[in-house]
Amino acid sequence: MKIDILTLFPSMFDGFLNESIIKRARDKKLVEIQVINFRDFSKLSNHQVDDTPYGGGGGMVLRCEPLVSAIESLRTPQSKVILMCPQGKSFKETHAKTLSLEKHLILVCGHYEGFDERIREFVDEEVSIGDYVLTGGELPAMVVTDAITRLLPGVIKKESWEQESFQENLLDYPTYTKPSDFRGLKVPEVLLSGDHAKIKEWRYQEQVKKTKEKRNDLLK
Ligand code: ADE
Repeated sequence: MKIDILTLFPSMFDGFLNESIIKRARDKKLVEIQVINFRDFSKLSNHQVDDTPYGGGGGMVLRCEPLVSAIESLRTPQSKVILMCPQGKSFKETHAKTLSLEKHLILVCGHYEGFDERIREFVDEEVSIGDYVLTGGELPAMVVTDAITRLLPGVIKKESWEQESFQENLLDYPTYTKPSDFRGLKVPEVLLSGDHAKIKEWRYQEQVKKTKEKRNDLLK
């Protein structure tokens, strides 16, 4: 899987790409992530990427040309181009799974007050990570990249994500580690019993209970 991220702020991705599971996945060549500054694609002498809006109004608007040139330089018939924006489809675990099967993703990070509406004609889908407005698409691009990368074969153990939240529309069951008694807070007896069938059933019941309590909407 290859992920190209188009942004005006490449250094925002330094920590994200060079720590923990994402770094390991890149080192093991399970994913190739490239961060590209689309300012380099501006044909204007000062590499300007934005301009004032037609019809007036405040703020600056991202111009089509640098972004579209960048997309066109990267795109192949196997690419899926995704624009990060608050008006997009709400990002869910099921969507992460579908996208994890793609060969090549191009994630486009908008910035400033907005972008020229015609940019929409050059992307395959639009994704939002929630109903709030961020200063740019960089954090959303990291969220989407992270959620997808951890699902790629070999990145984390399949058993880890098979049992966790949002699989089968259930939240994760509670987990505990040593000590068995922390300040009087005891680990449920069943987990110390060694009875694997009983533990499995208990975990499932806890998932249902937790989901009903916290996210009843998932059960509908
Ligand atoms: N850009 C700004 N806010 C965003 C959001 N909530 N999701 C995706 N991209 C965004």
